[in-house]
Amino acid sequence: MAGRIPQSFIDDLLSRVDIVEIIDRYVPLKKAGANHKACCPFHGEKTPSFNVSQPKQFYHCFGCGVSGNAISFLMEFDHMHFVDAVEFLADRIGLEVPRDAIAAITPSQQGLFDALNACNQFYQQQLRNTPPAIDYLKGRGISGDTAQRFDIGFSPDAWHALTENTNADENSLVQSGMLIRKDSGKSHDRFRNRIMYPIRDRRGRVIGFGGRVMDNSEPKYLNSPETPLFQKGRELYGLFELRRASRGSPERILVVEGYMDVIALAEAGIDHSVATLGTATSTEQVSQLFRETDEIVFCFDGDSAGKKAAWRALNSALPSLKAGRDARFLFLPDGEDPDSLVKSIGAEQFMQQLIDQAMDASDFLFQQLELQAQKGSDHSGPGHKARLADIAKPLISTIPTGVYRTLVEEQLYEKVGVNVFGESSPQQAQSDYQPIKNPVPQPNLSPVRKALIAILDTPSVVLEIDPEAYDFSTDIRGASLLLEIISLIESRPDITTSGILERYRDTEQSEPLHKLLRAGMTATIEAGINTPLSVLQHAIEQLNKESLRQQLKLDTNTPNGLPSEMSDAQKDEVRKRLQQLKKS
Ligand code: UTP
Ligand code: MN
Repeated sequence: MAGRIPQSFIDDLLSRVDIVEIIDRYVPLKKAGANHKACCPFHGEKTPSFNVSQPKQFYHCFGCGVSGNAISFLMEFDHMHFVDAVEFLADRIGLEVPRDAIAAITPSQQGLFDALNACNQFYQQQLRNTPPAIDYLKGRGISGDTAQRFDIGFSPDAWHALTENTNADENSLVQSGMLIRKDSGKSHDRFRNRIMYPIRDRRGRVIGFGGRVMDNSEPKYLNSPETPLFQKGRELYGLFELRRASRGSPERILVVEGYMDVIALAEAGIDHSVATLGTATSTEQVSQLFRETDEIVFCFDGDSAGKKAAWRALNSALPSLKAGRDARFLFLPDGEDPDSLVKSIGAEQFMQQLIDQAMDASDFLFQQLELQAQKGSDHSGPGHKARLADIAKPLISTIPTGVYRTLVEEQLYEKVGVNVFGESSPQQAQSDYQPIKNPVPQPNLSPVRKALIAILDTPSVVLEIDPEAYDFSTDIRGASLLLEIISLIESRPDITTSGILERYRDTEQSEPLHKLLRAGMTATIEAGINTPLSVLQHAIEQLNKESLRQQLKLDTNTPNGLPSEMSDAQKDEVRKRLQQLKKS
């Protein structure tokens, strides 16, 4: 995927964003010397060993070893996909991701988008010409405006409507899930005689459909299958419409179960709801929502299926929780869904119920944990508490460290009276930070590694070295990588460490480079013993010598054994250089 957004754009992006500002939005950072610090959000700890370097535009945890740049952080911490992370960063600094690269559209993907768009146009046009479908929607209280807002359409009762009425090609229609192809090779429309709800991605492109019958026949809804464009667990119905309608961040977003719930709420003036697509709420969906708002309210049925769905949603929400964010749970009265409820009590009452009755995530968490723990025989004694602690601990561990997590840990402590989190509990706040054992780089580091450590520490040192000075061959292990990085910096003098590492994302060199960067962060360079420039210069000298030795394939002590095919002048030159070598 990375290749489809021009590398130069990503370089620009990484040299313009500020990783400190980006990470600080998620994990409050404190300045400490040259770096910024926090308790690591990727593992539990009470003493900060998570370092963010502004000059390098890089983060690194000395406790658990994670490291990366702003893109990696969003991918790891916020579960974003690569392209989404790039777009998010571009958005923050007002850059537009080059249009042809957006979402890494391949020619065939573009064909699928085009086909789906053609279907969407066709279905909307069909709705206008089908009075019974319009009546159905009217009967459900949906106005023309709302139907338009959601691009509601209608699929006619025919087997080949799409191939006959759109210019989309058959293969694209099959691949996008709109046609079903039989073993015989013949294909027909998947959706027939249904009200059609297009599902759009965050940017508004149609990626699939839900289709509802207008009577009581089964199945009530048909949905697009998973396709290269459509993965149910990643998408939220109504998110695009919500983003389009809201100026700035909405105060809260409601998560409901059905298409019609989103639509009916919008009809009633509550224009900030989204629906999962018949699947359990995923961590990715939760983190997408927390990018738009600080409060998510899950609205589920009060029955046991609804409780189960809520429990799964809670599990997906825990990794995103922190101070300032709320996930809450509203259980609706028996037999009601948001659509029916908002119709019977009106938008104002609906919102009032929501505010009065929704449970906080931690209350719902402990309510459910207590219920699960009660499944044993001992309902209140030590057995109960032990079970409660056992099931609570792994769940609470998924909450990122911070104020919110501490509060939940304290709640558990109150209930069980024992400090289940051991050393790192709030009562015995102790350091789990293990200083790196050997902070000074091993003297036997190869010159290539030393050079890379210096360059990754301060890429601009390369600009202080005369290009003529590199007199070593690429036969030396790692030398071609080193030269590649040197010429990258020469061609892009403003590139940051994070930009360099970005070039090697998903390659074999990525991990070794990260290791070297970590070594550099603790190395003598930081202790002020050597400067990056002196380390690099020294490494290059060593490389030049080593290269010369290798070229000659000779023991430096026996210069007389020079190959006979060398001219005398060449031999002289070699002897001269060997003399120099011995002296230095
Ligand atoms: P509901 O049956 O609660 O749907 O299913 P709804 O939106 O309230 O539908 P109406 O009010 O009867 O029109 C919730 C969601 O579960 C999925 C759909 O995504 C639906 O919106 N579902 C339901 C299916 O995929 N297939 C079905 O047959 C039923
Ligand atoms: Mn319904």
